[in-house]
Amino acid sequence: MKPELQRRVQRYGWNKAAEYYNASWESQLKPAQDRLLDMADPKPGERVLETACGTGLITFRIAKAIEPEGEVLATDISEDMVSLADTTADQQQIRNVAFQRMDAEKLELDDNSFDAAVCGLGLMYVPDPMESLKEMQRVLKPGGRAAVAIWGERKNCGWADIFPIVDKRVASDVCPMFFQQGTGDTLEHSFREAGFQDIDVERFKVKLHFKDPEHVVMAAFSGGPVALAYDKFDEETRDEAHREYLDSIAPFRNGSGYQIPGEFVVARGISGD
Ligand SMILES: C[S@@+](CC[C@H](N)C(=O)[O-])C[C@H]1O[C@@H](n2cnc3c(N)ncnc32)[C@H](O)[C@@H]1O
Repeated sequence: MKPELQRRVQRYGWNKAAEYYNASWESQLKPAQDRLLDMADPKPGERVLETACGTGLITFRIAKAIEPEGEVLATDISEDMVSLADTTADQQQIRNVAFQRMDAEKLELDDNSFDAAVCGLGLMYVPDPMESLKEMQRVLKPGGRAAVAIWGERKNCGWADIFPIVDKRVASDVCPMFFQQGTGDTLEHSFREAGFQDIDVERFKVKLHFKDPEHVVMAAFSGGPVALAYDKFDEETRDEAHREYLDSIAPFRNGSGYQIPGEFVVARGISGD
């Protein structure tokens, strides 16, 4: 898929996903976000950048850790994600955050200007993850910390058939390189190539809990790039795709719900001079 098309699929897909995102994914992603924040270790007074911030689940936790004087700039390619996060900040009167629509591969930001940069569950979606890591490195001050969390290997993510199930009903792949960085030691190599030192990588398994078939289907089909394709399906195609997805996760049934295996990889590196 051409990079420009991939960016558009992400942008408009995540616009559709924004309002459902927290209900479907907040608790499922928390273990990866917890570990990401431990690794990034934001401190009071620091200036922190977040790329692919979504609804701000990580942003607001960083804002708390760096208050009162620290500031977080959170960016995302989807304007609906950015505006939802901005509204939440207003409602919760969180003053030390700013949200901007920005491509993670093309940060419109000065060199050497942040103490830490984080990206939670976003690197799988950018056309060129290396470029995105290099951009994080560029805007970090020397000695600044970058931390990234991604999904791990395809074989360890029980929900992974969602991609081929949707792909075969649309003209192009919805997320062509989703598992690339989470495979083997790719992420560590990417961090090194982007100019980071003292790299730490952790890989861990989780179980994703869904209380019933309706919730498991909702989470899978309302997620970002999948949501854009799904929106164009007619009723019959939707039912067929739901059935196929439920068949693919049938081994993970647990009572009336599901316990689906998943794997995350979290990495941290220090920016060189
Ligand atoms: C799974 S969500 C993660 C959101 C948040 N970081 C979290 O942990 O809850 C992925 C986000 O990546 C964003 N995204 C996808 N491609 C992007 C790009 N090229 N630049 C910036 N953000 C992008 C999407 O809009 C979406 O909000």
